[in-house]
Amino acid sequence: MTRPIRIAPSLLAADFSRLGEEVRAVAAAGADWLHLDIMDGHFVPNISYGPAVVKAMRRHTAMPFDVHLMIAPVDPYLAAFAEAGAQIISLHAEAGAHLHRSLQAIRALGVKAGVVLNPGTPAGAVEGVMDLVDLILVMTVNPGFGGQSFLDSQLPKIATLRRMIGATGRDIALEVDGGVTTATAPRCIAAGADTLVAGTAIFGTSDYGAAIRSLRGTAVHEAA
Ligand code: DX5
Ligand code: ZN
Repeated sequence: MTRPIRIAPSLLAADFSRLGEEVRAVAAAGADWLHLDIMDGHFVPNISYGPAVVKAMRRHTAMPFDVHLMIAPVDPYLAAFAEAGAQIISLHAEAGAHLHRSLQAIRALGVKAGVVLNPGTPAGAVEGVMDLVDLILVMTVNPGFGGQSFLDSQLPKIATLRRMIGATGRDIALEVDGGVTTATAPRCIAAGADTLVAGTAIFGTSDYGAAIRSLRGTAVHEAA
């Protein structure tokens, strides 16, 4: 079965001195979503940016904003990210004791809700909330930094989640984040992923369009 593959460039790897330009460039290069990594220096050992930057980026593109919250607590900040222009807000299953309640809060804001699983967190962590999720994000690195190596150990979890999503009959995106490259993307897709986050593999190149096409698996190999 072939399913359309979405590519979500992660702004974390962009040139922070000219973010608006970078967002327009990946949109023009064929990106489907913009992935926005929010880090608090507490849930993860790094600090990135907050809702003001998300809101500023909204002026540069109509692409859906896929906001990945690596913060704890998460509930006090959900409204700010919805107001900043997020279409999807995802929180980590490990971020707090009340995942179900947080997902309800995201949906009440009129935004799609996602759950993120760290490498050490099993697929079963989302079992009790499958009726509330629009997206499941599998971390294939430990969250906090771009440019890390892909963890092959996460591939069986992607396959398990694809089966769990199939059993619901609901339209739930299955996203992979961390170390996604032209080498690892085909393995993610084969395991059942439909959405690939990529920071370094896009912003670290000089041709964003070519990088996006090759991650999606639609690169045209021209005869020499
Ligand atoms: C890591 C972030 C990722 C990161 C991916 O905590 O969630 O989105 O930007 O970067 P690459 O694609 O370089 O591994
Ligand atoms: Zn991310």
